[in-house]
Amino acid sequence: MLQSPRSRGPSPKRPALSGSASFEPSGAFDPTDADTAHPVLHPGRVAVITGAASGIGAAAARELAALGMKIALADLPAALPALTALAADLADLVGEANVLVVPTDVRVLADIVRLRDTVYETWHEVGVLMNNAGVGGEEGTSLDNLSAWHAVFATNVLGVVAVQQTFVGAMLHQENPAMVINTGSKQGVTNPPGNTAYNASKAAVKSLTEGLAHELRTRAAAGGAGSVSAHLFVRLSSSSFFPRPRPLLHLANPSPSPGWTYTGLTGAHSGGAKPAGAWTAQETVRHMLARVAAGEFYVLCPDNETGPEIDQLRIMWAAADVAQGRPALSRWHRDYKALYEEYIREGQALASEGALML
Ligand SMILES: NC(=O)c1ccc[n+]([C@@H]2O[C@H](COP(=O)([O-])OP(=O)(O)OC[C@H]3O[C@@H](n4cnc5c(N)ncnc54)[C@H](O)[C@@H]3O)[C@@H](O)[C@H]2O)c1
Repeated sequence: MLQSPRSRGPSPKRPALSGSASFEPSGAFDPTDADTAHPVLHPGRVAVITGAASGIGAAAARELAALGMKIALADLPAALPALTALAADLADLVGEANVLVVPTDVRVLADIVRLRDTVYETWHEVGVLMNNAGVGGEEGTSLDNLSAWHAVFATNVLGVVAVQQTFVGAMLHQENPAMVINTGSKQGVTNPPGNTAYNASKAAVKSLTEGLAHELRTRAAAGGAGSVSAHLFVRLSSSSFFPRPRPLLHLANPSPSPGWTYTGLTGAHSGGAKPAGAWTAQETVRHMLARVAAGEFYVLCPDNETGPEIDQLRIMWAAADVAQGRPALSRWHRDYKALYEEYIREGQALASEGALML
């Protein structure tokens, strides 16, 4: 895990455990820069975005339109007013003929097929498929609220698979390369206690997107036609949106409040200023596009509270639960609290010296 060339004692150099990390977002992806020109994130190519009426999806639509891409906006029929308003803004950027609004419930296969057919009949290709629609849903714990599990899996898992299966076959038949970006969550990687149903749904998105990436590259290596890459966009959700674990279900306090992207899913629709720890959806999307343009599969998004080194340490700690046979979710286990905190302190100290090797 942590590989330190020496063992460390307490050091005044060590940053505070809950210090406010500041991490500058990656620069926006710039298609006019010859060094970063990208065959998919490119003027004139087509982007299809589910969950486009709000938050990350809407920000992605704006950013991709700003690149000169044609945009198909898909969201629930109930979100039509928001989709229409966004489409009007995008039309100012790219022209009315380059924006489509297709009300689509990703839980309904006929809707997804209609979305695909409308896009191909209009523009004959898809460059970016942003498979982003998702719900937080009611809290679904391990012991109750089966209906919450059904609801969150219907959109976050089966909806993602249905969109992927409906589009990717067609994208593979295109001459030009294309990409699929599935929106997961760090909650599907580190599994913080709370909304277990949501965590499990996002763990499934991680798993199914890894499988997709493998199948696509195996197919390409075997000389299969078409070139489609897959990417997993991983955000951390707000602990204020997802309730804290109940006292009886955990023994140690969860870590300091994690950062997040301020969107409809995390309370932005109730008004108020963006909390300092959160990134805006635009910052998140710009970071994501820069990483995807660089060819990365796992796109982890930091924010103003949680820098990339903390993310890496938390992920390594979670993986070590499995590899070392520790109790499940030991990060929140009172017997491991001191060890975990020491691990994070040491990792941060090494990171600040440029010596963190994971
Ligand atoms: N905001 C965060 O911090 C955060 C963190 C981790 C993951 N995510 C993920 O990011 C994605 C986007 O969420 P957001 O934060 O922008 O939230 P948001 O609520 O602002 O946007 C989600 C959009 O998905 C749409 N949607 C929901 N169910 C749908 C369905 N069945 N069919 C079509 N559209 C549907 C909603 O109407 C909404 O417009 C989700 O997959 C979410 O799980 C967000």
